[in-house]
Amino acid sequence: MSYPRTHHCNELGLAHIGQQVSLCGWVNSSRNLGGLVFIDLRDREGITQLFIDPAEKPDLAAIAKDIREEWVLAAEGIVRPRPDNMVNKNRATGAIEVEVTSLTVLNPALPMPYHLEDPAASDDMRLKYRYLDMRRSNIVNNLRLRHRITKICRDCLDAHGFVEVETPILSKSTPEGARDYLVPSRVHPGNFYALPQAPQQYKQILMVGGLERYFQIARCFRDEDLRADRQPEFTQIDLEMSFVDQDDIMALVENMIAAVVKDVHGLEVQLPFPRLTYQEAMNRYGSDKPDLRFGLEIHDLTNVLKDTAFQALRGTLDSGGVIKAINAVGMATTCSRKQLDELTATAKLFGAKGLVWLKVEDDGAWSGSAAKFFTDAEKSAVNAAMAAKPGDLLLMAADSWRCACEVMGRLRLELAAKDGLNETPGFKFLWVVNFPLLEWDEETKRFAAVHHPFTSPLDEDVALLTTDPGKVRAKAYDVVLNGVELGGGSIRIHQAERQALMFKTLGISEDEAKLRFGHILEAFSFGAPPHGGLAIGLDRFVMLMCGAKSIRDVIAFPKTAKASCLMTDSPSTVDQAQLDELGIAICSSPRSI
Ligand code: AMO
Repeated sequence: MSYPRTHHCNELGLAHIGQQVSLCGWVNSSRNLGGLVFIDLRDREGITQLFIDPAEKPDLAAIAKDIREEWVLAAEGIVRPRPDNMVNKNRATGAIEVEVTSLTVLNPALPMPYHLEDPAASDDMRLKYRYLDMRRSNIVNNLRLRHRITKICRDCLDAHGFVEVETPILSKSTPEGARDYLVPSRVHPGNFYALPQAPQQYKQILMVGGLERYFQIARCFRDEDLRADRQPEFTQIDLEMSFVDQDDIMALVENMIAAVVKDVHGLEVQLPFPRLTYQEAMNRYGSDKPDLRFGLEIHDLTNVLKDTAFQALRGTLDSGGVIKAINAVGMATTCSRKQLDELTATAKLFGAKGLVWLKVEDDGAWSGSAAKFFTDAEKSAVNAAMAAKPGDLLLMAADSWRCACEVMGRLRLELAAKDGLNETPGFKFLWVVNFPLLEWDEETKRFAAVHHPFTSPLDEDVALLTTDPGKVRAKAYDVVLNGVELGGGSIRIHQAERQALMFKTLGISEDEAKLRFGHILEAFSFGAPPHGGLAIGLDRFVMLMCGAKSIRDVIAFPKTAKASCLMTDSPSTVDQAQLDELGIAICSSPRSI
């Protein structure tokens, strides 16, 4: 049976008066007013009011009497204007209604498990009945936007000579830094595939294969702690290019992003995006993904206060630490004692030993419990360095460079949230470049790759690999939007000698390298072109484009913070027979998380 639908439920207006139309959809609501029946019929595009007068159409009224919320209907009828006092200006079809001439119930529905429009309905309920939530919330619109954004990116990459290639889902563990999801092999008992954390190695091997420009709308799987912008499975717009440098990749990605913003919001993004080195981003914003929609920049007072006698700062300075500070302009009076305690708690949570806060008074003097520990000269020097005026609140922390930056970065975000600055409209893109190549791992007492072991060092820093590895900067770059890491990538090492040096620095022996990365190293030995790439988190990109607060809202069937799907009730136990076939025994008391 076909359904001869003439219009969607958002289309009809005064121009259609008198026309015979046919609509399909769900019952959004139905009401009986003064003996007349009104049904709001809803489809993907909108809502149209149906009208039945029982005096004229008793047979239709008899059908309508039983109709309940979310039943599926097909209706035919004549478009007529609503009486003036019944016009609904908030609805595209609010000037008309359809006087029904034929009504078919295509499918009834059970009573709804929760009130679909109840803003207080729990997240768990909405996730369990995701398909019902989709009907009333923004999710369908978000999914449509996601489709559009994906298509714009596909078209853009296609126009630039990229080839879309699918890479395996059953694959081998990749060093992206999170835990793998493992899949047991039936044919090779005791062996496991790993679901890809990213198609990293495949895309590099595609470059060895001569593809030159690859992209994929790639599913990735990472078993990591979940947050508003993290899901265990997510999607990347993943790309890789040969015979290019960092600037080529960044220019291409910027243009692709700008095309999306233009299409979705009609806005011209200023190109190129500003660039900050990692060092600068940390120094000025205390984050490698700074939100540039607001100022509240971090000041370095190490030099200004180098002679301080204040013990809380002196000790840190003597052991090589730094003093970082923020001027919370005008917040001396608006920030309550309780809020200061909260800021101090945040500072401590992120590793600071404490937080010094000072209020600038009318004459430029300071109040606050630590004010007495500073000389007048120090006070004026700090006021000048931070452009502090009466009414400003100064926050200071002394610690190792990284800790002091990170703590101030957190406080910056917290202060911005207090003032609603984190809701500032607009899109502030930037690149963060020159990330450190390596970081010291206290646990294993060796250096680990910040990105992955194939990331290339800056040419001018290669010599440092043997003398001062912690100082080596990488040809790695992240694209950031409004304080969210949207994507990241790097130029890869393609020369065997440099790769061997990198492994040596990482403390990875030749045998271990062969075992873990033998296939890619072998591929590289047969003529790897210079190459590099990047991956954008599609879910995050769509989230920011549609103003959603969580990537859950742009994923059709997301998982909870505990990585379960409430709709399908997964993960779940499996039959003993399936386990036996895989040679897997479940311990009687699995370790709980
Ligand atoms: P990276 O690990 O930085 O790089 O990931 C790229 C982007 O993927 C998104 N992302 C996530 N989105 C949702 N949930 C998650 N759990 C999650 N994890 C990451 C982020 C991130 O910026 N192979 C490299 C790229 C390359 O070097 O070419 C990679 O995966 O938006």
